[in-house]
Amino acid sequence: MDANDPKSVLIKLEALVREADEAFTRAATADEVEKARIYYLGLKHGRIEEIEAFFKSLPNEAKRGFGKPFNEAKLALKNAHEAAIIRVQPEVQAAASSSFSLTGSASVAFDFSLPGIRPRLGRRHPLTQTAGELIDIFGRFGFTLATGPEVEDEWHNFEALNIPPAHPARDPADNFYLDAKTLLRSQTSTVQIRVMEKQPPPVRVVAIGRVYRPDEIDDTHHCMFHQIEGLYVDKKVTLADLKTVLRLFAASYLGRDVHIRFRPSFFPFTEPSVEVDMSWDLRGGKWIELGGAGMVDPNVFRAVGYDPEIYSGFAFGLGIERMCMRRHGIKNIRMFHENDVRFLEQF
Ligand code: DAH
Repeated sequence: MDANDPKSVLIKLEALVREADEAFTRAATADEVEKARIYYLGLKHGRIEEIEAFFKSLPNEAKRGFGKPFNEAKLALKNAHEAAIIRVQPEVQAAASSSFSLTGSASVAFDFSLPGIRPRLGRRHPLTQTAGELIDIFGRFGFTLATGPEVEDEWHNFEALNIPPAHPARDPADNFYLDAKTLLRSQTSTVQIRVMEKQPPPVRVVAIGRVYRPDEIDDTHHCMFHQIEGLYVDKKVTLADLKTVLRLFAASYLGRDVHIRFRPSFFPFTEPSVEVDMSWDLRGGKWIELGGAGMVDPNVFRAVGYDPEIYSGFAFGLGIERMCMRRHGIKNIRMFHENDVRFLEQF
């Protein structure tokens, strides 16, 4: 720069403002804006700094007349920089690129007569819908919802349910053990124990959730499925109450013409125990197994500190997939887990 030609410096200053303005306008990302800032406004070797250093080197006399244009130029650069920072913010960009504008000032022409893109609405999974209905139905019978963890200890999954260490149900090959004492729960009966440990009788709860068993996967079996567990404890609860509740439930969920029957069975945590079957058509109709049930075994009451001389209760555990499949005519349990929208859209 020529100290003797201040006019040429003023021209340079003007050109610099124009150039910087363009550069900041062109910058499309925060990175590019920062690069432009360093180039034009950087404290070391920035272009404006270069001119400032030149002014400072002038004798006082010669400085006069330069201060104002220099300060204005510097301010213009700073303003351009700030505007660029705001412009490249993601939210601002998103708003600017949307062609829809109520004020009609959109930069891109938009044809409002074009058909829209219909959003694809999701829906709840059939099993979630079924669970919701079950909670509703049992809610009307006065059962509240209880929950428990899917990762369980042996006490809640076996011991407190009167299933001793030597029992075949505890075989490591028939369960998903995580370590010697922890496993993925194999039944929702665990929640019975968790509820009774926390509250005194009376108890009237249902629990819904996943259970895990290393079963061979076929049309009706999976290594993970859902159960609904029910527990009713009070004074003078009988097997007749159990049958009434289950029959009312079956009629509510599947229809009035459903029949249910009990077959004698065995579960360590109930005595007596029954297998619950249902059927639509008594003549020729097949009986379908719904799950197990029974009167709570006194040993279970003792494990949670209830007095079996005063209280009695019933419990049941039913497979949810089975009910949902039966109701909707689903033939293959794998369909629930394949996430195929052609299947899921039907519910
Ligand atoms: N937990 C049993 C199972 O998974 C089902 C069951 C049977 C639950 C009898 C109960 C019951 O509450 O009383 O096979």
